[in-house]
Amino acid sequence: MENLQTTYLGLKLRNPLIAGSCGLTNSIDNIKELANKGVGAIVVKSIFEEQINVEIEKVIKTGLGNVETFTKAPDTILSKRIYDYDEAYSYIYDFAKRNTLEKYLDFLKEAKKSIDIPVIASINCVSNQDWYSFAKKIQDTKVDALELNIYILPSDWRRSGEDNERIYYNIISEVRNYVTLPIAVKMGYYFSSIAQSVQKLSQTGIKGLVLFNRPYNTDFDIDKISLSHGSIYSSPEEFTHTLRWISILSGHVDCDLSASTGVHDHKAFIKQLLAGATTVQIASALYREGFDVIPEILNKTSDWMNKHGFTDVNAFRGKLNKANLENPAAIERVQFMKLYSGIE
Ligand SMILES: Cc1cc2nc3c(=O)[nH]c(=O)nc-3n(C[C@H](O)[C@H](O)[C@H](O)COP(=O)(O)O)c2cc1C
Repeated sequence: MENLQTTYLGLKLRNPLIAGSCGLTNSIDNIKELANKGVGAIVVKSIFEEQINVEIEKVIKTGLGNVETFTKAPDTILSKRIYDYDEAYSYIYDFAKRNTLEKYLDFLKEAKKSIDIPVIASINCVSNQDWYSFAKKIQDTKVDALELNIYILPSDWRRSGEDNERIYYNIISEVRNYVTLPIAVKMGYYFSSIAQSVQKLSQTGIKGLVLFNRPYNTDFDIDKISLSHGSIYSSPEEFTHTLRWISILSGHVDCDLSASTGVHDHKAFIKQLLAGATTVQIASALYREGFDVIPEILNKTSDWMNKHGFTDVNAFRGKLNKANLENPAAIERVQFMKLYSGIE
């Protein structure tokens, strides 16, 4: 096989294909199989602070300690709840949070022992304090890096673009104060000036940016006349959005770029590398095509490299990026006009 070795977040990867954070990176058996199939690194399923909160609320509201999380809780918890709601609330809250986090930490340690490729943990928090306290504990598990999964939908009309951006900077600076692990930030694309925002984020001391978080899509059910949701999995056509931004931004940022969304085959994988991505993450393809998609992408990429005389990834990475263009939008506009004027 051609040389696909890559350095991402300062870590040596045997190739740039990463199993992205999803439900499939949540079990040790899967993690072992993903590593056996050949991925260069694995991002473990995120621990979501909000999910812990929802579980806790459920238990507190029903008054039943029947959630697995609470099986180790001392008997006193429920009686405390009856006699002193506030005290019991914070007691249960702290206990459940610690317990869920500990399970996640145990899982990371086990994952690290099970495979010999880099393991990247992932967190998604809402409160400032939990971002860094989770991160600090994760560092002790000896995982190789940490992905901060920051999901902000700027739908609050009381908050300006600057207010929303500040959330990213605050989280990064808090976590960096406490953690020396290499950090990647998985970000959304709702910025008023995304090129400048990505460049500024890349200068905060993080080692990588994952472009992009795929938002939960809105849909309606017209039979039930109710809210629904779009497809949980991406389709292969979706890779072009990330491709545009990786190709515009690579060469202008001070950290690695990892492409995420819509990569389902070797063609989209190669394109993201040609655009300048350091690594490429896949999630939906693992669900839709199964884990054999990994060797298929890697083997076909190797064949393509062989055919074009590229002996290693650096020989073609970024070959089609737009780093040298003063204003990529102007070029896109010319191409758009040429294309449309040819269609009657
Ligand atoms: C079922 C499922 C669960 C996911 N869970 C997470 C998660 O816990 N943390 C995260 O950062 N991204 C999560 N993602 C998002 C993926 O990592 C990825 O960014 C997104 O699906 C787009 O990539 P894709 O087109 O390869 O699926 C999840 C995706 C799916 C389909």
